[in-house]
Amino acid sequence: MNQPADSAGVERAVAKGLAGQRVRIGLVGCGVVGTGILRLLRDNAETIEARLGAPIEVVGIAVRDPSKLRDPLVPAELVGTDPMALATQDDVDVVVEVMGGLDPAGAVVKEALEKGKHVVTANKALIAEEGETLLEMAESTGVDLYFEAAVAGGIPIIRVLREALASDRVVALSGIVNGTSNYILSRMTSAGLDFADALAEAQAKGYAEADPTLDINGGDARHKLAILATLAFGARVDVHAIPMEGIDTVSALDIAFASRFGYVIKPLAIGRPTDDGELDLRVHPALIPESSVLASIHGALNAVHIEGAMLGPSLMSGPGAGALPTAMSVVSDIVDVGRNLITGAHARVPSRAFRGSTLQALPLASPKSHRGRFYLRFDVHDRTGVLGKIANVLGGFDVSIEQMVQEGGQSEGNPHATLVMLTHVASAGDVHGALEEIDRLQYTTGPSRALRIEEG
Ligand SMILES: NC(=O)c1ccc[n+]([C@@H]2O[C@H](COP(=O)([O-])OP(=O)(O)OC[C@H]3O[C@@H](n4cnc5c(N)ncnc54)[C@H](OP(=O)(O)O)[C@@H]3O)[C@@H](O)[C@H]2O)c1
Repeated sequence: MNQPADSAGVERAVAKGLAGQRVRIGLVGCGVVGTGILRLLRDNAETIEARLGAPIEVVGIAVRDPSKLRDPLVPAELVGTDPMALATQDDVDVVVEVMGGLDPAGAVVKEALEKGKHVVTANKALIAEEGETLLEMAESTGVDLYFEAAVAGGIPIIRVLREALASDRVVALSGIVNGTSNYILSRMTSAGLDFADALAEAQAKGYAEADPTLDINGGDARHKLAILATLAFGARVDVHAIPMEGIDTVSALDIAFASRFGYVIKPLAIGRPTDDGELDLRVHPALIPESSVLASIHGALNAVHIEGAMLGPSLMSGPGAGALPTAMSVVSDIVDVGRNLITGAHARVPSRAFRGSTLQALPLASPKSHRGRFYLRFDVHDRTGVLGKIANVLGGFDVSIEQMVQEGGQSEGNPHATLVMLTHVASAGDVHGALEEIDRLQYTTGPSRALRIEEG
């Protein structure tokens, strides 16, 4: 057995590994995150060197438009437009990809891995869509490909799943992993804003992109869930097979009714292995009890709740985006890669938490097979017998009502009512079958609404 490393041993390894050198990085992209990385490397230079044993030096930066006005801390003499050059040049030890998107980011990362360079990326789309190929390339060439910032920005959830939980089995995870959608639903809850106003506010504050589609339709959270599911459950996951629902169909009315029953509506990403050997992965808004831990995650914050078979429940929360929190995760990955460079211990910890050969392609549970409680809302003509007819259809689909409230009103002179019901445990397939029939029979004045209730 090897002798435990003493501090002199580590010093010797440092001397041998980088021999008075630096960890040299090529920064591919210098926007929000890239500039944050430069700021962090400047402000925390001393502490990083003390922890790593060598300084980190930026040797080149690639951007799309070099004429753009940039923060004065971006060294103009290092700025170029050729990311591929950084992926191949000899004096780059670690390629740091923070440009985003699949193309050309994917090609740059592949080129870097092929050239035997270590890669750190914040690109969730790239890891969710092409991670399998890239991580296999990294494993076969014996280099590190790290992506802490790709999920939940500044929260070190990847590292926790990869290292801290290496001895445990994760039996469930649920998280708020998209800050924009959490901000929108939080403002709809706290200020009574409707969806469009809350979105406009999120954009004005810089929480939402100019094109917020992926935040709102669940696509961004689905990317992150695919990554988390691989690390938590050792599963190969086809990101496009994960069922998702966006938050854009949640109305201020749903939020107000949920609150009357003691619930808040949150944008959730959920994963758990089922007893049938399937993986239940879902992204959707859901009602959760006001007393549950995720209910207290407000605004643009993110949180991930993990249930370990031995550990039990554990929650990590913090900023899911922003220049410095995200840069913190990226640079911590660079420090890790640098430590591996120094000690010659590349790929000691598998990037996907599990050795690639042990990853399983578990079938995903059908969304229809999900069983749980549901929140249902029906807008109906306020006529005698409508409630009975709706209850009949629900009963025919084995959906039984646990609680109900009815509120009346007038619409264009006609009396109408809103019926809100919480069901007992039912299958999602049955609930949706019942709603389709209720809407088809025109008992309602608009499409009926179903939201899942997660008990938290
Ligand atoms: N922003 C966050 O809070 C956050 C949080 C977690 C993860 N991330 C991830 O981090 C990555 C970067 O996000 P960001 O917000 O920093 O994006 P950003 O502000 O749009 O910056 C992108 C950078 O990449 C450069 N770039 C884009 N296409 C290029 C090309 N073809 N060749 C060379 N350079 C190119 C841009 O150049 P120009 O400057 O010339 O336009 C810009 O410097 C994304 O994958 C994102 O998902 C971001």
